[in-house]
Amino acid sequence: MTEILHLLSTRRSVPPVSLTGPGPSADELGTLLKIAARVPDHGKLAPWRFIVFQGEARERAGQIVVDGFKRREPQADEARIGAEAKRMTMAPLIIGVVSTAKEGAKVPAWEQELSAGAVCMNILLAAKGLGFDGSWLTNWFSYDREVLAQLGVHEGERMAGFIHIGRATQVPDDRPRPDLTQIVTYF
Ligand SMILES: Cc1cc2nc3c(=O)[nH]c(=O)nc-3n(C[C@H](O)[C@H](O)[C@H](O)COP(=O)(O)O)c2cc1C
Repeated sequence: MTEILHLLSTRRSVPPVSLTGPGPSADELGTLLKIAARVPDHGKLAPWRFIVFQGEARERAGQIVVDGFKRREPQADEARIGAEAKRMTMAPLIIGVVSTAKEGAKVPAWEQELSAGAVCMNILLAAKGLGFDGSWLTNWFSYDREVLAQLGVHEGERMAGFIHIGRATQVPDDRPRPDLTQIVTYF
C-alpha cells in the first residue's frame, strides 16, 4: 500500500486532550496553510479564510470561550467552567477555518461551503503527513455569534471547524465504520 493510502485508511481523529506540543514550526505551519488553500474550489472564489491560534493567543481565545459559556450558563459550576477554559489551550495549534461563502456568487453557496470542508480535511491530512495528529471540532461556540465575533469571525461568515493539531500522546482505537452495503448503490 502506498504511504498516502495507508494514511487515508488508518487516520483517526485524536481529541485535543491527547494532543501535546511541540506544535508545528513556523515552516510547518506555512506548509499547512498552503495545503489548506489548495482544495477544489468551483469558480476559484477562495470562499474561506483561516484564523491561527497558537502560543499565548490560545489563552485569550480560551477566556473568550469561558466568558461566552458563563453568559449562556450562569449557573455552571467551577468544573464545567474549567473544562471550557481548556478548550482552546489543549492543542499547541488550532487553525480556525472560516467559510466566507456568499449567496449570489457565480456558484451556489452550498458548493462554496463544501470547499471549506475540503480545507478542513486537507489540514488534517497535511498535519498527519508532517507527523502530527489532530481533530476537526466545531464545539458549541461555532454557533455562538458573540463568541465568534470576539474570535474575529464576521457577520455572514460561518465557522467550518477548529482544526486542533499536536503530537498524539494516545491514539484512540478505531471505531466501527459505515457498512458500505448500506450506503453504496450502483446505478
Ligand atoms: C464539521 C465537523 C464538526 C465536528 N465537531 C465535533 C465536535 O465539536 N466535537 C466532537 O467531539 N467531534 C466533532 N466532530 C467529529 C470528529 O472530528 C471526528 O470525526 C470523530 O471524533 C470521529 O473520529 P474519526 O475522524 O477518527 O472517524 C466533528 C466533525 C465534523 C466533520
